[in-house]
Amino acid sequence: MSKTVAIIVAGGKGERMGGDVPKQYMLLAGKPIIVHTLEKFAQVEEVDHIVVVCDPHYKLTVEEFIESYGIKKPITFAAGGRTRQASSFNGLVNCPEGVETVLIHDSVRPFVTEKIIIDVIAATKEAGASAPAIPSADTIVLAEDDIISEIPERKNVRRIQTPQGFDYAQILQAHEKALASGITDATDDCGLIVDLGEPVKLVQGSDENFKITTKQDIDKAEYINKRG
Ligand code: CTP
Ligand code: MG
Repeated sequence: MSKTVAIIVAGGKGERMGGDVPKQYMLLAGKPIIVHTLEKFAQVEEVDHIVVVCDPHYKLTVEEFIESYGIKKPITFAAGGRTRQASSFNGLVNCPEGVETVLIHDSVRPFVTEKIIIDVIAATKEAGASAPAIPSADTIVLAEDDIISEIPERKNVRRIQTPQGFDYAQILQAHEKALASGITDATDDCGLIVDLGEPVKLVQGSDENFKITTKQDIDKAEYINKRG
């Protein structure tokens, strides 16, 4: 059986959010955001193992959450890095023996669904890499110094989310290649696969699967949570 591992990257400081603790430890309906996220992956049978990437100072806190909220999957920890790319890489190199498929997910997307997780796993097994995507209601432009340089056709534009799924050997190779060429601040793992010239298959994401980034996002998250 091929092993599927979910890497939850939680090594960020949440600077745009501000606050006393990084946003992944803030409460949503009385429960830490990271716990909502871990519960989603713990519920999915196709996920065999979880790797939590976090600041080592928070390891004990997360271990206590896992215990008190009764999260049952096997979980290992890896240290957060200076950038998201470094955190993601630390998660990869700390995956358990026998991993074939990895999902890399932002700790601050608690509204991921079982369907999105399963769809990403299936598309990854088929195409080698996958991500959930949604269309963009706004027109997206490329700009340099606040001057528009290009307007891609809206029908070709997507917003991508996490979990992003990868063949383990390929994403490890993509990270090693990026590091060798001096790239250290990639905010997205799919980009590294695209740089290798390999395909990334998109599946249907959802508006609710947004990344909690700012203070207003906490209100939006509370609203979505209440509405169910
Ligand atoms: N992340 C990480 N290690 C980093 C930076 C980010 O593991 N060095 C994680 C965050 O914890 C989050 C996800 O990557 O789960 C998405 O990053 P982002 O929303 O940018 O979170 P932060 O970097 O914490 O926030 P900010 O950029 O506002 O400081
Ligand atoms: Mg960040």
